[in-house]
Amino acid sequence: MSLTRIVYCSESVKHIGSNEISDILDVSRTNNAKQAVSGVLLFNSDYFLQCLEGSRAAVNSIYCRICCDQRHHNAQLLAYGEVSERLFSAWSMAYIPWTEATRTMIAQYASGSEFNPYHMSSESVIRLLEAFGRSLLKSEP
Ligand SMILES: Cc1cc2nc3c(=O)[nH]c(=O)nc-3n(C[C@H](O)[C@H](O)[C@H](O)COP(=O)(O)O)c2cc1C
Repeated sequence: MSLTRIVYCSESVKHIGSNEISDILDVSRTNNAKQAVSGVLLFNSDYFLQCLEGSRAAVNSIYCRICCDQRHHNAQLLAYGEVSERLFSAWSMAYIPWTEATRTMIAQYASGSEFNPYHMSSESVIRLLEAFGRSLLKSEP
């Protein structure tokens, strides 16, 4: 099995509240776990940034399904390829809440004062995800 990572961003088409984020996370965690897919989701009220890691077939089929979801649009791949290890092996879908700490972390990797994943290079996105992975591991009990 070739371990594959997909990273994309998209824009919400309407207001997405915390209940909707919970719904997305519940479905994602159930479905992804069944296919041994791990990853992380970030949402800042305008943009989604998501990473999916797993077998090439699984991440592609999940990504295609996500792209058809009417809650967001303009999905744009930021990074795609085979990787030697997972960044989020412990999480079927981790969630990064939009906090001051998240903004501070993003400011180290994204240029500009506003978070806009469409303007980030693949390299910066991966470095940001690596930082999220490290911080999630640190916050584990
Ligand atoms: C931003 C975003 C991220 C999502 N991430 C996932 C995901 O990682 N895995 C997943 O199965 N569904 C994800 N979904 C939900 C899918 O689009 C779709 O609603 C769901 O997979 C349908 O699952 P079901 O057929 O089991 O109801 C996401 C949706 C959005 C809007």
